Amino acid sequence: MSNVLRPGAFGNATNLACRECGTSVPLGPFYACPECFGPLEVAYDFGSVTREEIEAGPRNIWRYKALLPVPSDIEDSPNTEPGFTRLLKANNLGRELGIENLWVKDDSTNPTNSFKDRVVACALSAARELGSKVFACPSTGNLANAVAAAGARAGIKTVVFIPSNLEKPKQVNSAVFTDSLVAVNGNYDDVNKLASEIAGEEDGWAFVNVNVRPFYAEGSKTLGYEIAEQLGWRLPDQIVIPVASGSQLTKVDKAFQELIKLGLVEDKPYKIFGAQALGCSPVSTAFKAGVDAIRPVKPDTIAKSLAIGNPADGIYVLDSCRRTGGSVEDVTDDEIREAIVLLARTEGIFTETAGGTTVGVTKKLVETGQLDPTLETVIINTGHGLKTLDAISDQVGAIATIDPSYDAFQAAGII
Ligand SMILES: Cc1ncc(COP(=O)(O)O)c(C=O)c1O
Ligand SMILES: [Zn+2]
Repeated sequence: MSNVLRPGAFGNATNLACRECGTSVPLGPFYACPECFGPLEVAYDFGSVTREEIEAGPRNIWRYKALLPVPSDIEDSPNTEPGFTRLLKANNLGRELGIENLWVKDDSTNPTNSFKDRVVACALSAARELGSKVFACPSTGNLANAVAAAGARAGIKTVVFIPSNLEKPKQVNSAVFTDSLVAVNGNYDDVNKLASEIAGEEDGWAFVNVNVRPFYAEGSKTLGYEIAEQLGWRLPDQIVIPVASGSQLTKVDKAFQELIKLGLVEDKPYKIFGAQALGCSPVSTAFKAGVDAIRPVKPDTIAKSLAIGNPADGIYVLDSCRRTGGSVEDVTDDEIREAIVLLARTEGIFTETAGGTTVGVTKKLVETGQLDPTLETVIINTGHGLKTLDAISDQVGAIATIDPSYDAFQAAGII
Protein backbone atom coordinates (compact mmCIF):
# COMPACT_ATOMS: atom_id res chain seq x y z
CA MET A 1 0.00 0.00 0.00
CA SER A 2 1.10 3.58 -0.61
CA ASN A 3 3.27 5.23 2.03
CA VAL A 4 2.61 8.73 0.71
CA LEU A 5 -0.45 10.14 2.42
CA ARG A 6 -2.24 13.27 1.27
CA PRO A 7 -2.46 16.00 3.94
CA GLY A 8 -5.49 15.48 6.19
CA ALA A 9 -5.99 11.89 4.97
CA PHE A 10 -6.96 10.85 8.51
CA GLY A 11 -8.56 14.09 9.70
CA ASN A 12 -7.72 15.00 13.30
CA ALA A 13 -5.92 11.68 13.90
CA THR A 14 -2.26 12.23 14.75
CA ASN A 15 -0.77 8.75 15.13
CA LEU A 16 -1.40 5.17 16.20
CA ALA A 17 -0.62 4.31 19.82
CA CYS A 18 -0.17 0.94 21.50
CA ARG A 19 -2.93 0.18 24.01
CA GLU A 20 -0.46 -1.71 26.19
CA CYS A 21 2.79 0.31 26.25
CA GLY A 22 1.84 3.60 24.56
CA THR A 23 4.45 3.31 21.78
CA SER A 24 3.58 5.71 18.97
CA VAL A 25 3.47 4.55 15.34
CA PRO A 26 2.79 6.74 12.27
CA LEU A 27 -0.66 6.52 10.65
CA GLY A 28 -0.61 3.65 8.16
CA PRO A 29 -1.65 0.01 7.59
CA PHE A 30 -0.31 -1.10 10.96
CA TYR A 31 -2.14 -2.89 13.73
CA ALA A 32 0.39 -4.44 16.10
CA CYS A 33 2.88 -2.61 18.30
CA PRO A 34 6.48 -3.05 17.08
CA GLU A 35 7.66 -3.16 20.73
CA CYS A 36 5.18 -5.49 22.45
CA PHE A 37 2.71 -6.70 19.76
CA GLY A 38 -0.14 -4.97 21.65
CA PRO A 39 -3.06 -3.62 19.56
CA LEU A 40 -2.68 -0.16 18.04
CA GLU A 41 -5.38 2.45 18.45
CA VAL A 42 -5.96 5.80 16.73
CA ALA A 43 -4.91 8.88 18.74
CA TYR A 44 -6.15 12.41 17.96
CA ASP A 45 -5.74 16.08 18.54
CA PHE A 46 -9.38 17.20 18.34
CA GLY A 47 -8.97 20.87 19.19
CA SER A 48 -12.48 22.12 19.82
CA VAL A 49 -15.61 20.41 18.51
CA THR A 50 -19.04 21.90 19.23
CA ARG A 51 -22.55 20.46 19.39
CA GLU A 52 -23.63 23.03 16.78
CA GLU A 53 -21.01 21.85 14.26
CA ILE A 54 -22.13 18.27 14.73
CA GLU A 55 -25.84 19.09 14.52
CA ALA A 56 -25.27 20.98 11.25
CA GLY A 57 -23.77 17.83 9.68
CA PRO A 58 -25.48 15.14 7.58
CA ARG A 59 -27.86 12.59 9.12
CA ASN A 60 -25.26 9.83 9.02
CA ILE A 61 -21.98 9.02 10.79
CA TRP A 62 -20.12 11.80 8.96
CA ARG A 63 -21.73 14.37 11.27
CA TYR A 64 -19.00 13.10 13.66
CA LYS A 65 -16.22 13.21 11.07
CA ALA A 66 -14.10 15.54 13.25
CA LEU A 67 -13.97 12.70 15.81
CA LEU A 68 -13.06 9.98 13.28
CA PRO A 69 -9.86 9.11 11.33
CA VAL A 70 -11.34 10.35 8.04
CA PRO A 71 -10.63 13.37 5.81
CA SER A 72 -12.84 16.47 5.99
CA ASP A 73 -14.06 15.81 2.41
CA ILE A 74 -15.23 12.26 3.29
CA GLU A 75 -18.79 12.98 2.10
CA ASP A 76 -17.51 13.46 -1.46
CA SER A 77 -16.41 9.83 -1.92
CA PRO A 78 -19.10 7.20 -2.53
CA ASN A 79 -19.86 5.15 0.57
CA THR A 80 -22.97 3.63 2.12
CA GLU A 81 -23.58 6.61 4.46
CA PRO A 82 -24.54 4.55 7.51
CA GLY A 83 -25.70 5.69 10.90
CA PHE A 84 -28.10 8.05 12.60
CA THR A 85 -30.37 5.07 13.20
CA ARG A 86 -33.42 5.26 15.46
CA LEU A 87 -33.22 5.43 19.24
CA LEU A 88 -36.61 4.10 20.29
CA LYS A 89 -38.28 4.46 23.68
CA ALA A 90 -39.13 0.82 24.44
CA ASN A 91 -41.97 1.11 26.97
CA ASN A 92 -43.57 -2.25 26.17
CA LEU A 93 -40.33 -4.18 26.43
CA GLY A 94 -39.44 -2.14 29.52
CA ARG A 95 -42.71 -3.21 31.17
CA GLU A 96 -41.99 -6.88 30.37
CA LEU A 97 -38.46 -6.68 31.75
CA GLY A 98 -39.37 -4.43 34.69
CA ILE A 99 -37.13 -1.58 33.48
CA GLU A 100 -38.68 1.86 33.97
CA ASN A 101 -36.76 3.84 31.37
CA LEU A 102 -35.60 1.68 28.46
CA TRP A 103 -34.36 2.60 24.98
CA VAL A 104 -33.42 0.46 21.99
CA LYS A 105 -30.76 1.78 19.63
CA ASP A 106 -31.90 0.03 16.45
CA ASP A 107 -28.90 -0.47 14.19
CA SER A 108 -30.68 -3.09 12.09
CA THR A 109 -31.79 -0.27 9.79
CA ASN A 110 -28.29 0.48 8.48
CA PRO A 111 -27.70 0.01 4.71
CA THR A 112 -26.82 -3.70 5.02
CA ASN A 113 -28.84 -4.16 8.20
CA SER A 114 -26.18 -4.28 10.86
CA PHE A 115 -23.89 -1.93 12.79
CA LYS A 116 -20.99 -3.19 10.65
CA ASP A 117 -21.75 -0.55 8.00
CA ARG A 118 -20.34 2.01 10.45
CA VAL A 119 -16.97 0.34 10.92
CA VAL A 120 -16.69 -0.55 7.25
CA ALA A 121 -17.28 3.06 6.17
CA CYS A 122 -14.26 4.11 8.25
CA ALA A 123 -12.16 1.20 6.98
CA LEU A 124 -13.09 2.07 3.39
CA SER A 125 -11.84 5.61 3.90
CA ALA A 126 -8.53 4.27 5.25
CA ALA A 127 -8.22 1.78 2.38
CA ARG A 128 -8.75 4.60 -0.12
CA GLU A 129 -6.26 6.93 1.52
CA LEU A 130 -3.68 4.11 1.65
CA GLY A 131 -4.20 3.30 -2.04
CA SER A 132 -5.39 -0.29 -1.42
CA LYS A 133 -6.28 -2.45 -4.43
CA VAL A 134 -8.47 -4.98 -2.61
CA PHE A 135 -11.00 -4.44 0.17
CA ALA A 136 -11.36 -7.64 2.19
CA CYS A 137 -12.37 -9.24 5.49
CA PRO A 138 -12.74 -12.43 7.46
CA SER A 139 -16.28 -12.34 8.82
CA THR A 140 -18.95 -14.03 10.93
CA GLY A 141 -21.44 -12.76 8.33
CA ASN A 142 -22.55 -9.19 8.85
CA LEU A 143 -19.12 -7.74 8.20
CA ALA A 144 -18.92 -9.62 4.89
CA ASN A 145 -22.28 -8.09 3.85
CA ALA A 146 -21.09 -4.58 4.75
CA VAL A 147 -17.68 -4.90 3.06
CA ALA A 148 -19.15 -6.36 -0.13
CA ALA A 149 -21.77 -3.59 -0.40
CA ALA A 150 -19.42 -0.72 0.46
CA GLY A 151 -16.83 -1.99 -2.01
CA ALA A 152 -19.45 -2.22 -4.76
CA ARG A 153 -20.55 1.36 -4.16
CA ALA A 154 -16.96 2.61 -4.01
CA GLY A 155 -15.93 0.68 -7.11
CA ILE A 156 -13.12 -1.23 -5.37
CA LYS A 157 -12.49 -4.98 -5.72
CA THR A 158 -13.78 -6.93 -2.71
CA VAL A 159 -12.94 -10.42 -1.43
CA VAL A 160 -14.81 -11.66 1.65
CA PHE A 161 -14.03 -14.80 3.64
CA ILE A 162 -16.64 -16.59 5.78
CA PRO A 163 -16.93 -19.88 7.68
CA SER A 164 -18.57 -22.37 5.27
CA ASN A 165 -21.35 -23.24 7.78
CA LEU A 166 -22.70 -19.66 7.84
CA GLU A 167 -26.44 -18.98 7.59
CA LYS A 168 -27.59 -19.01 3.93
CA PRO A 169 -29.16 -15.51 4.03
CA LYS A 170 -25.85 -14.02 5.16
CA GLN A 171 -24.05 -15.80 2.33
CA VAL A 172 -26.54 -14.50 -0.26
CA ASN A 173 -26.39 -11.01 1.28
CA SER A 174 -22.68 -10.93 0.49
CA ALA A 175 -22.63 -12.78 -2.83
CA VAL A 176 -25.19 -10.40 -4.28
CA PHE A 177 -22.67 -7.53 -3.92
CA THR A 178 -19.41 -9.31 -4.78
CA ASP A 179 -18.19 -11.96 -7.19
CA SER A 180 -15.59 -13.04 -4.62
CA LEU A 181 -17.25 -14.63 -1.60
CA VAL A 182 -14.92 -17.33 -0.27
CA ALA A 183 -16.32 -20.01 2.08
CA VAL A 184 -13.63 -21.55 4.29
CA ASN A 185 -13.91 -24.99 5.91
CA GLY A 186 -13.39 -23.93 9.51
CA ASN A 187 -14.76 -21.63 12.19
CA TYR A 188 -14.31 -17.85 12.37
CA ASP A 189 -11.02 -18.11 14.21
CA ASP A 190 -9.63 -20.28 11.37
CA VAL A 191 -10.89 -17.78 8.78
CA ASN A 192 -9.30 -14.91 10.71
CA LYS A 193 -5.95 -16.71 10.84
CA LEU A 194 -6.05 -17.27 7.08
CA ALA A 195 -6.84 -13.58 6.52
CA SER A 196 -3.83 -12.53 8.63
CA GLU A 197 -1.62 -14.81 6.54
CA ILE A 198 -2.91 -13.36 3.26
CA ALA A 199 -2.51 -9.81 4.60
CA GLY A 200 1.13 -10.62 5.38
CA GLU A 201 1.83 -12.09 1.93
CA GLU A 202 -0.21 -9.99 -0.51
CA ASP A 203 0.56 -6.35 -1.18
CA GLY A 204 -2.27 -3.83 -1.44
CA TRP A 205 -4.95 -5.77 0.42
CA ALA A 206 -6.85 -3.85 3.09
CA PHE A 207 -8.39 -6.40 5.44
CA VAL A 208 -10.80 -4.16 7.31
CA ASN A 209 -10.53 -5.94 10.66
CA VAL A 210 -6.89 -7.02 10.35
CA ASN A 211 -4.36 -4.57 8.89
CA VAL A 212 -6.66 -1.49 8.92
CA ARG A 213 -8.36 -2.59 12.16
CA PRO A 214 -7.39 0.57 14.14
CA PHE A 215 -9.30 2.75 11.63
CA TYR A 216 -12.18 0.28 11.20
CA ALA A 217 -12.77 -0.06 14.94
CA GLU A 218 -13.19 3.71 15.39
CA GLY A 219 -16.45 3.50 13.43
CA SER A 220 -18.17 1.89 16.42
CA LYS A 221 -17.64 5.09 18.41
CA THR A 222 -20.45 6.64 16.36
CA LEU A 223 -22.95 4.40 18.19
CA GLY A 224 -21.91 6.08 21.43
CA TYR A 225 -21.99 9.59 19.94
CA GLU A 226 -25.45 9.06 18.46
CA ILE A 227 -26.94 7.64 21.64
CA ALA A 228 -25.67 10.65 23.60
CA GLU A 229 -26.88 13.16 20.99
CA GLN A 230 -30.28 11.46 20.64
CA LEU A 231 -30.76 11.51 24.40
CA GLY A 232 -30.30 15.30 24.21
CA TRP A 233 -26.51 15.35 24.71
CA ARG A 234 -26.63 13.13 27.77
CA LEU A 235 -25.08 9.77 28.65
CA PRO A 236 -27.38 6.91 29.73
CA ASP A 237 -26.93 5.36 33.19
CA GLN A 238 -26.59 1.82 31.83
CA ILE A 239 -25.94 0.31 28.41
CA VAL A 240 -26.03 -3.34 27.24
CA ILE A 241 -23.87 -4.26 24.22
CA PRO A 242 -23.25 -7.63 22.49
CA VAL A 243 -19.68 -8.93 22.47
CA ALA A 244 -17.92 -10.92 19.74
CA SER A 245 -14.39 -9.54 19.31
CA GLY A 246 -15.36 -6.93 21.92
CA SER A 247 -14.40 -3.99 19.73
CA GLN A 248 -17.82 -2.34 19.66
CA LEU A 249 -18.21 -2.32 23.43
CA THR A 250 -14.80 -0.79 24.06
CA LYS A 251 -15.39 1.87 21.39
CA VAL A 252 -18.74 2.96 22.85
CA ASP A 253 -16.87 3.43 26.12
CA LYS A 254 -14.15 5.42 24.28
CA ALA A 255 -16.85 7.58 22.64
CA PHE A 256 -18.47 8.40 26.00
CA GLN A 257 -15.06 9.32 27.44
CA GLU A 258 -14.26 11.58 24.47
CA LEU A 259 -17.63 13.35 24.72
CA ILE A 260 -16.95 14.06 28.41
CA LYS A 261 -13.41 15.32 27.69
CA LEU A 262 -14.65 17.57 24.88
CA GLY A 263 -17.33 19.01 27.19
CA LEU A 264 -20.09 17.84 24.83
CA VAL A 265 -21.88 15.96 27.64
CA GLU A 266 -21.88 16.30 31.41
CA ASP A 267 -19.43 14.03 33.24
CA LYS A 268 -21.49 11.38 35.02
CA PRO A 269 -21.13 7.70 35.93
CA TYR A 270 -22.40 5.06 33.48
CA LYS A 271 -22.27 1.29 33.60
CA ILE A 272 -21.41 -0.89 30.60
CA PHE A 273 -22.70 -4.47 30.35
CA GLY A 274 -21.51 -7.05 27.80
CA ALA A 275 -23.75 -9.77 26.34
CA GLN A 276 -22.56 -13.17 25.10
CA ALA A 277 -24.15 -16.47 24.08
CA LEU A 278 -23.38 -19.27 26.53
CA GLY A 279 -22.09 -21.36 23.61
CA CYS A 280 -19.36 -18.78 22.99
CA SER A 281 -18.77 -16.99 26.26
CA PRO A 282 -15.03 -16.61 26.82
CA VAL A 283 -15.42 -13.03 28.07
CA SER A 284 -18.32 -13.59 30.49
CA THR A 285 -16.51 -16.67 31.81
CA ALA A 286 -13.40 -14.59 32.58
CA PHE A 287 -15.54 -11.81 34.09
CA LYS A 288 -17.34 -14.20 36.42
CA ALA A 289 -14.10 -15.93 37.42
CA GLY A 290 -12.58 -12.55 38.25
CA VAL A 291 -9.54 -13.21 36.04
CA ASP A 292 -7.81 -10.97 33.47
CA ALA A 293 -6.92 -13.60 30.86
CA ILE A 294 -9.42 -14.84 28.30
CA ARG A 295 -9.31 -18.57 27.63
CA PRO A 296 -10.26 -19.22 23.96
CA VAL A 297 -13.26 -21.52 23.30
CA LYS A 298 -14.69 -23.48 20.35
CA PRO A 299 -18.03 -21.74 19.59
CA ASP A 300 -21.27 -23.73 19.54
CA THR A 301 -24.27 -21.39 19.43
CA ILE A 302 -27.02 -20.13 17.15
CA ALA A 303 -25.58 -16.61 17.66
CA LYS A 304 -23.13 -17.11 14.80
CA SER A 305 -22.42 -13.39 14.42
CA LEU A 306 -21.04 -13.44 17.98
CA ALA A 307 -19.15 -16.71 17.55
CA ILE A 308 -15.59 -15.52 18.05
CA GLY A 309 -13.84 -17.99 20.35
CA ASN A 310 -10.65 -15.95 20.73
CA PRO A 311 -11.80 -12.32 20.99
CA ALA A 312 -9.12 -9.74 20.17
CA ASP A 313 -10.56 -7.07 22.48
CA GLY A 314 -11.88 -9.40 25.19
CA ILE A 315 -9.49 -8.14 27.87
CA TYR A 316 -10.48 -4.54 27.15
CA VAL A 317 -14.16 -5.48 27.51
CA LEU A 318 -13.30 -6.76 30.99
CA ASP A 319 -11.56 -3.42 31.72
CA SER A 320 -14.55 -1.31 30.54
CA CYS A 321 -17.16 -3.37 32.38
CA ARG A 322 -15.15 -3.57 35.60
CA ARG A 323 -14.12 0.10 35.57
CA THR A 324 -17.68 1.33 35.09
CA GLY A 325 -19.27 -1.11 37.57
CA GLY A 326 -21.07 -3.15 34.90
CA SER A 327 -20.66 -6.85 34.11
CA VAL A 328 -20.62 -9.46 31.33
CA GLU A 329 -23.41 -12.07 31.25
CA ASP A 330 -24.45 -14.91 28.96
CA VAL A 331 -27.67 -16.68 27.91
CA THR A 332 -28.55 -20.03 26.36
CA ASP A 333 -29.69 -20.50 22.76
CA ASP A 334 -33.27 -21.05 23.98
CA GLU A 335 -33.15 -17.77 25.90
CA ILE A 336 -31.86 -16.07 22.73
CA ARG A 337 -34.79 -17.45 20.69
CA GLU A 338 -37.32 -16.33 23.33
CA ALA A 339 -35.76 -12.88 23.47
CA ILE A 340 -35.97 -12.44 19.67
CA VAL A 341 -39.71 -13.10 19.83
CA LEU A 342 -40.12 -10.92 22.93
CA LEU A 343 -38.52 -7.88 21.25
CA ALA A 344 -40.54 -8.46 18.08
CA ARG A 345 -43.88 -8.74 19.93
CA THR A 346 -43.27 -5.83 22.29
CA GLU A 347 -41.58 -3.28 20.03
CA GLY A 348 -42.07 -4.43 16.42
CA ILE A 349 -38.34 -4.90 15.94
CA PHE A 350 -37.07 -8.09 14.32
CA THR A 351 -33.56 -8.69 15.58
CA GLU A 352 -31.03 -11.33 14.71
CA THR A 353 -29.48 -13.74 17.21
CA ALA A 354 -26.99 -11.11 18.41
CA GLY A 355 -29.89 -8.83 19.41
CA GLY A 356 -31.64 -11.83 20.99
CA THR A 357 -28.50 -12.30 23.05
CA THR A 358 -28.55 -8.66 24.15
CA VAL A 359 -32.25 -8.65 25.09
CA GLY A 360 -31.91 -12.05 26.81
CA VAL A 361 -28.91 -10.87 28.80
CA THR A 362 -30.72 -7.65 29.77
CA LYS A 363 -33.57 -9.75 31.20
CA LYS A 364 -31.10 -11.89 33.14
CA LEU A 365 -29.22 -8.82 34.42
CA VAL A 366 -32.47 -7.48 35.91
CA GLU A 367 -33.45 -10.86 37.37
CA THR A 368 -30.06 -11.30 39.01
CA GLY A 369 -29.96 -7.74 40.35
CA GLN A 370 -26.91 -6.70 38.30
CA LEU A 371 -28.81 -4.01 36.40
CA ASP A 372 -30.76 -1.33 38.27
CA PRO A 373 -34.29 -1.29 36.76
CA THR A 374 -34.94 2.27 38.00
CA LEU A 375 -32.08 3.79 35.96
CA GLU A 376 -32.12 4.90 32.32
CA THR A 377 -30.96 1.98 30.20
CA VAL A 378 -30.05 1.64 26.50
CA ILE A 379 -29.68 -1.67 24.67
CA ILE A 380 -28.15 -1.93 21.22
CA ASN A 381 -29.85 -3.99 18.52
CA THR A 382 -26.93 -4.59 16.17
CA GLY A 383 -28.48 -6.64 13.36
CA HIS A 384 -31.62 -7.72 11.47
CA GLY A 385 -33.65 -10.90 12.07
CA LEU A 386 -34.20 -11.60 8.37
CA LYS A 387 -30.58 -12.76 8.23
CA THR A 388 -31.06 -15.46 10.89
CA LEU A 389 -34.57 -16.71 10.08
CA ASP A 390 -33.63 -20.33 10.74
CA ALA A 391 -32.94 -19.56 14.38
CA ILE A 392 -36.64 -19.03 15.10
CA SER A 393 -38.44 -20.72 12.20
CA ASP A 394 -39.56 -23.52 14.57
CA GLN A 395 -40.61 -20.95 17.16
CA VAL A 396 -43.15 -18.95 15.16
CA GLY A 397 -45.50 -19.68 12.26
CA ALA A 398 -49.14 -19.81 11.16
CA ILE A 399 -51.50 -20.82 13.99
CA ALA A 400 -53.89 -22.47 11.50
CA THR A 401 -54.21 -23.24 7.80
CA ILE A 402 -57.82 -22.72 6.74
CA ASP A 403 -60.00 -22.67 3.63
CA PRO A 404 -60.90 -19.17 2.38
CA SER A 405 -64.36 -19.06 3.98
CA TYR A 406 -65.84 -17.32 7.01
CA ASP A 407 -67.11 -20.69 8.27
CA ALA A 408 -63.61 -22.12 8.22
CA PHE A 409 -62.31 -19.05 10.04
CA GLN A 410 -64.95 -19.44 12.76
CA ALA A 411 -64.36 -23.19 13.02
CA ALA A 412 -60.67 -22.66 13.60
CA GLY A 413 -61.47 -20.84 16.89
CA ILE A 414 -58.75 -18.28 16.38
CA ILE A 415 -60.29 -15.47 18.45
C1 LIG B 1 -24.84 -8.32 14.65
C2 LIG B 1 -23.55 -8.22 15.41
N1 LIG B 1 -23.59 -7.71 16.63
C3 LIG B 1 -22.48 -7.60 17.38
C4 LIG B 1 -21.24 -8.01 16.93
C5 LIG B 1 -20.05 -7.88 17.83
O1 LIG B 1 -19.10 -6.99 17.42
P1 LIG B 1 -17.63 -6.92 18.02
O2 LIG B 1 -16.79 -7.90 17.24
O3 LIG B 1 -17.23 -5.51 17.79
O4 LIG B 1 -17.71 -7.30 19.47
C6 LIG B 1 -21.15 -8.54 15.63
C7 LIG B 1 -19.83 -8.97 15.12
O5 LIG B 1 -19.68 -9.61 14.13
C8 LIG B 1 -22.34 -8.64 14.86
O6 LIG B 1 -22.31 -9.15 13.61
ZN1 LIG C 1 3.28 -1.85 22.83
